[in-house]
Amino acid sequence: MGICFELLPDTQLRVICSVQQWDSDEPIPQSELLAGIAGKDGLFCLLSDRIDKEVLDAAGPSLKVISTLSVGYDHLAIPEIKKRGIRVGYTPDILTDATAELTVALLLATSRRLPESVLEVKNGGWTTWKPLWMCGYGLSGSTVGIIGLGRIGLAVARRLKPFGVKRFLYAGCHPKPEADAELNAEFGGPVKWKEAISSSGLEIIPGGSEGAKTNSGSYQSRVRDCDLLSAKADRTEAGTVGFPNWSHSNDIKETNKVMEETDLLLVEEMEELASLPIAKLAEESDFVIVTCSLTPDTQGMCNRDFFSKMKKTSVFINTSRGAVVNQDDLYEALVNGHIAAAGLDVTTPEPLPTNNPLLSLKNCVILPHIGSATYATRNTMSVLAANNLLAGLKGESMPSELRL
Ligand code: NDP
Ligand code: DGY
Repeated sequence: MGICFELLPDTQLRVICSVQQWDSDEPIPQSELLAGIAGKDGLFCLLSDRIDKEVLDAAGPSLKVISTLSVGYDHLAIPEIKKRGIRVGYTPDILTDATAELTVALLLATSRRLPESVLEVKNGGWTTWKPLWMCGYGLSGSTVGIIGLGRIGLAVARRLKPFGVKRFLYAGCHPKPEADAELNAEFGGPVKWKEAISSSGLEIIPGGSEGAKTNSGSYQSRVRDCDLLSAKADRTEAGTVGFPNWSHSNDIKETNKVMEETDLLLVEEMEELASLPIAKLAEESDFVIVTCSLTPDTQGMCNRDFFSKMKKTSVFINTSRGAVVNQDDLYEALVNGHIAAAGLDVTTPEPLPTNNPLLSLKNCVILPHIGSATYATRNTMSVLAANNLLAGLKGESMPSELRL
């Protein structure tokens, strides 16, 4: 759905809106969106509408505000939007409870095998009470790892604590001392290397230690030869070459210091370092829950390497965005018993084709992106998104504006 707004000054100098609406629950075809958005001032969109450069070009310079009926904004080409000075409204907070509730429901349904059990009752598979039949995994005494302890992640953790969870681990970009204290949670370290590298202006040389070339073009043998396990930031002729000591990779101060002092990075090592904090979370958690936003850093983060580190008895839950997970790798992990089960509210693509191999697995529970789907939440989201749009069109502060 896309609703385009056009501002029309009337005779009393009030502002009235002319609204052009795609009046269907089905997504607006791209050709309709491109034609309809031309010359409009505002756009009301859904997470299924990809607002990319082509759409922004089609809109032209009149477009001042985009309001999305979602808290996630990975469907919006943010750098392009920012470049054009377009404001963005979104719907944080008001959907946190509903989404956290659904995440817990999905976790319990997956770990206690509810869909499979219901099916057994219906198809006659329930013959008698058997000691190990339909057994799953419980939360009591468990370790829960949360990737992205933001609004929803924290709300999930708060709901899970009374189930008797012993320990929470989390990964993200910032440690959260208040959550640490409230939940007895442990920060696994920053997972934001790609963003940090690209915003730092550092020179990035592909090829890692083999191709460690300095700014002047000469190879820096000292870097190539050094022992990664013990290396600290090291000054070179071309600048400073650095990477955190692996044994300190969970120390955000140390990694930040290295980032600040570094002029040249060895990409292979950085890629490996990037996976370290979530590796600990993968290895030690009985339940891994993904509630982070989809960014270049998190895209494909849960991959073969990640699943291979998880316990064979652990359960993986994703209610963030499908693209955070490499689904082929997840399928392999589920089929080969590297992990016990997975519950997904989000997939790639959406809808997931009915012949997708994941749908053939008993130990994979898939929902159709219903995290925020309560009547009350969707109503509140709609009102907030409409108010965001109107405020943006009037040049006023929005109830929930995304800081670009
Ligand atoms: P927040 O912005 O509060 O939380 C996002 C979290 O992602 C933050 O904790 C952030 O870490 C973390 N994060 C960002 N980059 C990384 C990274 N590289 N590695 C690990 N963690 C990272 O958003 P919400 O909690 O409100 O929503 C989260 C996401 O949930 C949305 O973006 C949306 O995609 C999805 N969602 C899905 C719904 C559904 O229906 N299934 C419903 C609603 C939302 P830090 O705090 O350290 O910066
Ligand atoms: C969001 O808001 O990002 C969800 O995916 C849908 O509510």
